[in-house]
Amino acid sequence: MDPVSEFRPDPTWVKEVTAACRGRVLVRAPLNHFTTFKIGGPADAIIIPVDQDDLITVIRLLKRLATPWMVLGRGSNLLVLDGGYNGAMINLAQAANQLVITPGSNREEFFMEAGAGVPLCRALRITVAEGLTGLEFTTGIPGSVGGAVIMNAGTRDGRIEDVTEEVTFLTKEETMASKIKKDLCFQYRHLAVDSDEMVVSATFKLKKGTPDLVRKTVKAAMDYRKQTQPKAWPSAGSVFKNPPGMSAGALIDQAGLKGTRIGDAQVSEKHANFIVNLGHARAKDVLSLMNKVQRTVKENFGVALEPEIKVIGRS
Ligand code: EPU
Repeated sequence: MDPVSEFRPDPTWVKEVTAACRGRVLVRAPLNHFTTFKIGGPADAIIIPVDQDDLITVIRLLKRLATPWMVLGRGSNLLVLDGGYNGAMINLAQAANQLVITPGSNREEFFMEAGAGVPLCRALRITVAEGLTGLEFTTGIPGSVGGAVIMNAGTRDGRIEDVTEEVTFLTKEETMASKIKKDLCFQYRHLAVDSDEMVVSATFKLKKGTPDLVRKTVKAAMDYRKQTQPKAWPSAGSVFKNPPGMSAGALIDQAGLKGTRIGDAQVSEKHANFIVNLGHARAKDVLSLMNKVQRTVKENFGVALEPEIKVIGRS
């Protein structure tokens, strides 16, 4: 039996979930309000547990009620289909929001433990304020710490795996368990995590830096993004992964696809690896445009582009 097709929320389900959770439960929540693309049908519920105990209670209940669930970070890197998400989305903004910095064994090293629900930009801001170096490469990445870890988020200046010392998971037995760096299976834009496990925090290894230099590096990365990436319209960041040794943006650009439009979804005129939502783009427009880009790049250069954005939900 496929639980995704079987699950149907009814008033009893809503009552049970809202009674069990001490935090907020948003029923039939339109996901276009919760994604950076501003696209997507509703989730049956978005659940915002207040702390770890609340989170565990919620997960236990969802399992008992055979409700599919997934974590909704800051909605970046995500394309939610127009039919929405059949199940509950868990937001960790309250249940996993700790940010603790502890000095390492020598005076140069520091460890930052960041909850999965912490915006990555907040973690970066604290390191800049403290003059710590290591997270500058995350400048401008719009997601949460949890999302960045799961995606092994990165730029040309670094990847999350480079700085991650330890990740703590909520296991399928609803206990907390940590894995150290050598036991984490990071790949390009991916961390292998069991589908019934959830990242709840990560510990990053940082170094004492020169505060001025850290600030300057972040500013330069921000300026580069402003110059090269579209900001005027909603998007989900880079749509495709860079094929080994190549740039997806350059390939799409050279294929002459900049400005190509289906409905209100358009290949950005500024950076060809971005699709922008010009107002009322539907997920199906974005998917058609992605297919067109993949087809054209394959025909022109023989390269198969692989999506970086995660597509979820039903059409
Ligand atoms: N390029 C073109 N035409 C374009 C876009 C890019 O010719 O329309 C060329 C650029 O001139 C450059 C090369 O392609 O020579 C690479 O472009 P860019 O420096 O913009 O980097 P990117 O590989 O496209 C990566 C990350 C971005 C990150 C930037 C800057 C990936 C898939 N994307 O982009 O991350 O902001 O580096 O560090 O690795 C994201 O992942 O969502 C994201 C925005």
